[in-house]
Amino acid sequence: MSILNTNNNTHDTAGLASKLVYKYGKEILNSKEFEQQKNFFQHGDHTVYKHSVDVAKKSAELALKYFHDVDYSSLIRGALLHDYFLYDWHEKNLPNKIHGFTHPSKAAKNAARDFGINHKEKIIIKRHMFPLTPIPPTIREAWIICIADKMCATHETVRGIIIKIGLYELLKIFNQRHHIRIPKLLSKIAVLDIIRSIYTFIINKKNGDFS
Ligand SMILES: [Fe+2]
Ligand SMILES: [Fe+2]
Repeated sequence: MSILNTNNNTHDTAGLASKLVYKYGKEILNSKEFEQQKNFFQHGDHTVYKHSVDVAKKSAELALKYFHDVDYSSLIRGALLHDYFLYDWHEKNLPNKIHGFTHPSKAAKNAARDFGINHKEKIIIKRHMFPLTPIPPTIREAWIICIADKMCATHETVRGIIIKIGLYELLKIFNQRHHIRIPKLLSKIAVLDIIRSIYTFIINKKNGDFS
């Protein structure tokens, strides 16, 4: 679809992204099933619910700024459901110790059961952990979410560490004085790391190191 052609400034893009998330994610956002994610933490003090909504907004923002011909319905629904695994992954007695590798499949299964998902949404959910899971996304919507997820996760983790060591207030003052957003800066570094990982993956594939 084409709502693009954005000569939008950052503020307008963020506003438009939020509107798109509500427009295409309404059914999911208004459901009691999706609310369950408020019971589980993702990174730092962010619940899986907040993380998923933030990833949807960031994905829409990236799509508006850098991509054309994006299927916004699949993009936003896929982003909202990408971590719909519905358990506390910090739990020490969890039978499944390799959450990072297995939760995309679990999320896809739960999402299909509770909301019904199309083929694109399934790819988005199942491939979002690339390069931790080795099969890369094959559609642009899945690439966008793969990147947005890393940006949000890094931001949340760094923010959580800063709060934990008691430097949050100090950092806020520093940010206000020097206009430097350290978690945002680090999330940009995370994106560079993804690009590096993808490059390594392609080179390895060329050399026949992956089947
Ligand atoms: Fe995930
Ligand atoms: Fe995520």
